[in-house]
Amino acid sequence: MSVAVRRLEAGDEAALRAFLAALPAEDRTFIKEEVDDPGVAAAWVADQRTVRGLAVEGADVRGLAAVIPGVGWSSHVGELRLVVDRSHRRLGVGRALAQWSVLQSIELGLRKLAVEVVAEQEAAEALFRNLGFEPEALLRDHIRDRDGNYRDLLVLSHHLDANWSGMATLGLGG
Ligand SMILES: CC(C)(COP(=O)(O)OP(=O)(O)OC[C@H]1O[C@@H](n2cnc3c(N)ncnc32)[C@H](O)[C@@H]1OP(=O)(O)O)[C@@H](O)C(=O)NCCC(=O)NCCS
Repeated sequence: MSVAVRRLEAGDEAALRAFLAALPAEDRTFIKEEVDDPGVAAAWVADQRTVRGLAVEGADVRGLAAVIPGVGWSSHVGELRLVVDRSHRRLGVGRALAQWSVLQSIELGLRKLAVEVVAEQEAAEALFRNLGFEPEALLRDHIRDRDGNYRDLLVLSHHLDANWSGMATLGLGG
C-alpha cells in the first residue's frame, strides 16, 4: 500500500494518537510538544495556525510534519518539525513530508523555512540538504540527550521562492 501526504483533519485523532503513542521517547523530542497529553490530537486538529501534515498508509499514520509560523519580526519564518515511524524509514516518507511542508510554507507566504536537527545525524541532514536546505547555524552543546550527553544542534534553512528554480530544487519542477 502506498503512503500519501495530506493535511491533518477532523477524524484523524485516533490514528494520530496511535502514531504518537508508538513513538519512542527519543523521537517524541523532535515534536517539542507534550505528546503524552491525551488532548493533544484534538488540540492539533483545532489549531488553524500551525499547518500539520500526515503521511498515511490506509488508516495508519506513518509520519508527521508541522510548519509553525513565527510571530512578530519572524512572522515570515516557519519552523519545520518532522518525524517518521521507525519501521517506515528509508522509504521516501520523510522526503515526501518535507516537500509537502515546503509547498505549504510557500502557500502561507513564508519567506524562509528552518529546521533544527541533531548535528552529525546523517539521515536528517542529508534529507534536508537534498531539498535545498542549507546549514545556517551550529549551536554547541544545545541538546542534552536522555543519557545526559551534550550534542550540537544544526539549523538548516530554505529560503523560499515560489518560482520555478525553487520548485526545481524541490524536485517538483515537472
Ligand atoms: C530524518 C527522518 C525524518 C527521515 O525520514 P525517512 O522517511 O527515513 O527519509 P526518506 O526515506 O524520505 O529519505 C530521504 C533521503 O534522506 C537521506 N536519508 C534518510 N535516512 C538516511 C540514513 N539513515 N542515512 C543516510 N541518509 C539518509 C537519504 O538521502 C534519503 O534519500 P535516499 O533514500 O533516496 O537515499 C527520520 O529519520 C526521522 O524521523 N528521524 C527522527 C526525527 C528527526 O530527526 N527529524 C528532523 C528534525 S525535526
